[in-house]
Order: sequence, then structure tokens, then C-alpha cells
Amino acid sequence: TGDTVYYTVEATKGTSQFFKDGKKSETFGYNGDLLGPMIELPKGKTVVIDTINRLDEPTTFHWHGLVIPADMDGGPHQTVAPGEQAQVRLDIDQEPSTLWFHPHPMGLTAEQVYKGLAGLLYVTDDAQNGLPNEYGVDDIPLIVQDRLFTPNGELDYDAHMNVDGTTGDTILANGAINTTFDVQTETLRVRLVNGSNARDFDFTLSNEAEMTQIATDGGPLERPIPLETLTLTPGERAEVLIDFSQVEDVAALKADGVTFTTFRVGELDKASIKIPVTETMERSTDETADRRLTLFGMGNMVSINGKTYDPERIDIEAKRGDTEVWEIENKPDMMGGMTHPFHIHGVQFRVISRDGNPPSDQEKGWKDTVAVAPDERVKIEITFTKTGTFMYHCHILEHEENGMMGQVNVT
Ligand code: C2O
Ligand code: CU
Ligand code: CU
Repeated sequence: TGDTVYYTVEATKGTSQFFKDGKKSETFGYNGDLLGPMIELPKGKTVVIDTINRLDEPTTFHWHGLVIPADMDGGPHQTVAPGEQAQVRLDIDQEPSTLWFHPHPMGLTAEQVYKGLAGLLYVTDDAQNGLPNEYGVDDIPLIVQDRLFTPNGELDYDAHMNVDGTTGDTILANGAINTTFDVQTETLRVRLVNGSNARDFDFTLSNEAEMTQIATDGGPLERPIPLETLTLTPGERAEVLIDFSQVEDVAALKADGVTFTTFRVGELDKASIKIPVTETMERSTDETADRRLTLFGMGNMVSINGKTYDPERIDIEAKRGDTEVWEIENKPDMMGGMTHPFHIHGVQFRVISRDGNPPSDQEKGWKDTVAVAPDERVKIEITFTKTGTFMYHCHILEHEENGMMGQVNVT
């Protein structure tokens, strides 16, 4: 069975985690106290995962960004009861990329993620061999999340819950405050995941370090993009290469101007990087839309096409193998509205236009989550290759919970 890879993923209660001042907080984690392991999904292989729920409440195991049939996808219909287990079988057939997994049970998603349930999925492929790929050495993940703490140092979900999602004053990277990393090579590959419930991040670097984006949510960019600021909304990911060759001593990675990861730079190994070239996708920006989705509202008054989620209702019927253009419009309300990160399960799509203009170079890669600002119309092109009932929703987790979610059934 050389073509099958096996894993076990257990959702568990963490016993203790020290975030602040040596005080303990209750947490959730996969195979550990907080967050989860990185699961490698080799392209072309079958991955079998035994999922086990050791929490006292229902959960699901959702593979965000994975192109798989709906019954393996871990959406709200695939609940795993406390103490139960379920096996999923995933045929990996998509571009090398940084995906993630998190729970998706009705009404409990936001809080379970907030308490620590999130893990990494790396789709890997030999074509990536020219890029830094030694995990934890020259290829590191940063799951970035904002959190609030009670005076006792406990993760604080309820007390300060804002109707537009829980936001926090403390930024964690991989579950830690003020992460430090010793850089050993001139070029570091950083996989950034916005794993926050509701907050957008603008990432910038200090000093002489330079950042080049090489991948979007679902795969490599056609060509690398030098960047000063990288913006990710909840659920989005990007891969960047950071060049430290001109850095004297330390460099900082900041989110919204606040340092959350410090890089200590010593003697550096020379990097020999080959960025794989991918095909150029030319597409017209004036495709007519097959479907229109209107995102509306804020707080607990959110909707898609005027409706809130109903697990019994299919909103869109689609055919497997068909390519559709969806126009997603964010209709502002009297308060002006807000950006909604729009996500679809079971597919990777292409952004074809924003308000009729071609997308920025940064969006010319595979996406599964796309930011739609108030008053904007974003067209995306999707090919459905797997069958079943898939969710699409706003990835502000509290908006999703408040009903900003619909279902597309692919037959
Ligand atoms: Cu990241 Cu419906 O999920
Ligand atoms: Cu998802
Ligand atoms: Cu939203």
C-alpha cells in the first residue's frame, strides 16, 4: 500500500497551556493541547485519516481547501459525536499548497476554533523541490490568530464577543505570544495562515528583510510577486519567501503594525532557490455570470441572497464537470457594511475580476477564499469536480454561525 498514507487526528481538550504570566488556560487541540500537527498530503496518493472526537461536544473535521467529495469534507453534516470516530479517505489531486483543517459543527465552529482547533495540511509534490521545504528549518508555518485573555490568563471567548466575531488584542503565531525564530538560511519560506475568527491582517516586515509572495490559498502563483504588505482575511493563506541576506541582526514580522514574530539572524547559509514556473492563465474579465450571490449585513443580521443557512435547503444545483462563473456582490447596509471573506468547500477557483477589472497579480493563483469589500463585485470561475453537498460561506466564523452560509449540490 505504498500509495496510501495513514494518519490519526484526535480532537482533544488540552490540559493546560501557558499563554501569559505562567497562568493556565483550558484549550482544545488536535493530537495535543493546542492547534495541531502538520499533515502532509502527497499529490497523487490516497490519504486515510482516522478522526476521533475526544471532546465532550460534537465536532467535525473539515479539510479547508481540499478538493474532495462532500461526504469526506467534514462540513456541518458530518458530525462526529463525543467519543466516536470516523474514517475519511482523501484522494489527493491538486496543486502543492498550504491548506488547513478545523471543525465545522453547527453553532460550535467559532468557539472550537477559538479554543485551539486548527491544523495544517500541506499538499506536496516533487515539483516543489526547488523551494525551501525543510519543515521548521527553512520552511515554516505561521498560523496567525488574535485572542483575548481574562485577567486569569484564560482564553476569553464569550465575555468580549463582538457581534461581528471575536477579535482579540493579542496576536498569537502558532499558539504563542512573541514567537522567535532563528533564521539559518538566506531565504525562508513562510506559510501564513489567517486562522483568526474575524480579523483581517496586514502583514509587513521591518528593516531590510524583503518579502515575495509565491503562492495563494490553493497553489503557486504564476510568477513571484515582491510585496510590502500582504493582506489576508480569515481563512486565507499565502506563502512568501523572506530574504534575510541584507538583515544585520533581527527582523520582525508585523500584523497591523504589531510585531508578533521576531527573526534572529546569525550566520546564514546561502540559498539556492528555484521557483517553479507555472502556466499562465489568460482569461477574460467580462464573462457573464451564471450565478449571482449577494452578501449582506453585519453582526447577526447577515445573509446571502436574503437568506440564512438552512441545512435542509439546497441553494444551488450544479453539475459535476461544469465550469461556472459566480458573481459575488457585497451590498453595503446603512452602516457601510464590511469585508466578507467568501469561501467555497470542495473546490479551488480563480478570481477573474473585481468590479470588472482584472484581479491583482497577488490573486492570480488558486483560491478557496476571497475577500469581497463593501460595494464590490467579484467574479470567480469554478469547476466542480466532486459530487455532494458543499457549503459556501463567509469565513468570519461568527457570520457563518449567524447563517451567512449556503449549500451547492453537485451531481
Ligand atoms: Cu474553513 Cu467552511 O471553512
Ligand atoms: Cu472550508
Ligand atoms: Cu461576513
